Amino acid sequence: MDKWYQDMFKGELGKYFLTFFDWRKDWTEKEIQFLESALKKGLILDHCCGVGRLSIPLSSKRQVVGMDLSKYLLVEAKKRGREAGAENLWLVCGDMRHLPLRPNLFDNVMNFWTSFGFFSHEENELVLKEIVGVLKEKGTFIIDIGNPEWRIINFQEKHWDERDDFYMLVERSFNWENKRNITRWIFIDKKSKKINEITFNHRLYSLQEFKKLYKKLGLAIQEVYGSCLKEPFEQTKSNRLVIIAEKGN
Ligand SMILES: C[S@@+](CC[C@H](N)C(=O)[O-])C[C@H]1O[C@@H](n2cnc3c(N)ncnc32)[C@H](O)[C@@H]1O
Repeated sequence: MDKWYQDMFKGELGKYFLTFFDWRKDWTEKEIQFLESALKKGLILDHCCGVGRLSIPLSSKRQVVGMDLSKYLLVEAKKRGREAGAENLWLVCGDMRHLPLRPNLFDNVMNFWTSFGFFSHEENELVLKEIVGVLKEKGTFIIDIGNPEWRIINFQEKHWDERDDFYMLVERSFNWENKRNITRWIFIDKKSKKINEITFNHRLYSLQEFKKLYKKLGLAIQEVYGSCLKEPFEQTKSNRLVIIAEKGN
């Protein structure tokens, strides 16, 4: 399997990705409100923290460890954390398949904004197993991910978007055999006309599949929502799938 998840979050593509984090600002406030009410007391792991979009604001009241593979994004997170005066934030570089963290350490693990499904099914399961491993007994795990049923019903094969400095063309297909969504992003810089592109694919998981995986790995589902606004989850109508679970069957 190609390593798109290494290429996407660094260099010129990383710069484009930085603008996505900022573009998500309005939504970030809603996610923080949701997390403050849903997370348990105690230490939080922001699993795949990116630029610290969520860990930095959360760390004003809580102790947070942010973990990510991209050094490029972690450098940016460090800079943003310093600017925000974040004193309770620790950043760690690591691969989610082999967490460089002590077992049974965290009261909470959060995985937000579609940061799951990047690998083969077996490795995705390993990612969940690693999360369970670093959680304390009765610790909380919250995932926020795209809902595959909604995606397929509302499938957009091609579309384009315009931002301040660039155009973005998007092409998508879905492989029914392995349930992978294949996306091609093409960026055209308005000034230089330079083109950058990346094709990435990730495995989509339905609520039913999460239920099976969680049961196998020792996570008990507590609440399921269709968004961070706590809207009820509707299989075909919800664009997001937000699951709150607890370690221990
Ligand atoms: C869509 S971003 C989400 C970032 C963050 N959770 C947020 O909500 O702003 C996905 C993140 O996963 C990280 N990532 C990709 N592959 C990874 C891996 N193998 N291990 C750890 N992090 C990884 C990327 O560097 C990126 O920061």
